[in-house]
Amino acid sequence: MNIILLGPPGAGKGTQARRLVEERDMIQLSTGDMLREARTSGTEMGKRVAEVMDRGELVTDDIVIGLIEEKLEGDTHGGFIFDGFPRTLAQADALGDLLKRHNTTLDAVIEMQVDDEALVQRITARSTCANCGEVYNDITKPQPADGKCAVCGHTEFNRRADDNEDALKQRLMEYYKKTSPLLGYYYAKGDLRTVNGLGEIDEVAAAIGRALAK
Ligand code: AP5
Ligand code: MG
Repeated sequence: MNIILLGPPGAGKGTQARRLVEERDMIQLSTGDMLREARTSGTEMGKRVAEVMDRGELVTDDIVIGLIEEKLEGDTHGGFIFDGFPRTLAQADALGDLLKRHNTTLDAVIEMQVDDEALVQRITARSTCANCGEVYNDITKPQPADGKCAVCGHTEFNRRADDNEDALKQRLMEYYKKTSPLLGYYYAKGDLRTVNGLGEIDEVAAAIGRALAK
């Protein structure tokens, strides 16, 4: 099964993708994570990507399409979760072509609906384990009191450079201008399923499970 998790910054795409990896042996393809890895490479491309990301703008289509293309080679396990990709109509068309070339299809696009106020709270309180990437939140999912990641026991945590109110405003603007048209695009194809992303993490996971069973 191949699915897209679609939603604004902080909607919980990464959090839910990690659960699907655990529960269904799927492969999480997060273009945000791939780009964050590229920015630490020290290359000219990495530096340019870092500047764009820190402003909260979208990286060019050809870069992210190239990243995804590489990952579709090899073992597919329980299928792919596209997390934060596609984000433009051009990326959506490219994904359709890539899947066709690999003789596979998209099974569902899960829209995670969360209102803007909750997004600001979620993003400004987020941290992640520097080793395994487990996602925490100062308010809704605090780091364990012993200072060790609950998944891997690592003791360092990161906060993202674009997790501040200014960059978030720009990220939201990019979402509404360039990514939200994908809702109509996938609705017209019959792939769109909408879940309420505002509940507890377990409730949202259950709603996604029900949407995928349809
Ligand atoms: P990316 O890394 O994809 O960021 P994003 O889309 O802004 O989304 P986030 O990762 O911030 O949020 P999320 O939905 O994963 O939420 P999470 O689960 O962490 O992209 C970053 C940048 O890279 C872009 O701005 C762009 O520059 C570039 N980029 C990436 N892909 C691109 C593409 N395809 N094209 C062009 N450019 C691209 O949860 C957030 C917080 O909420 C956490 O603290 C979590 O614990 C908490 N939380 C989660 N669920 C719940 C819940 N149900 N209740 C309470 N709290 C919750
Ligand atoms: Mg994410």
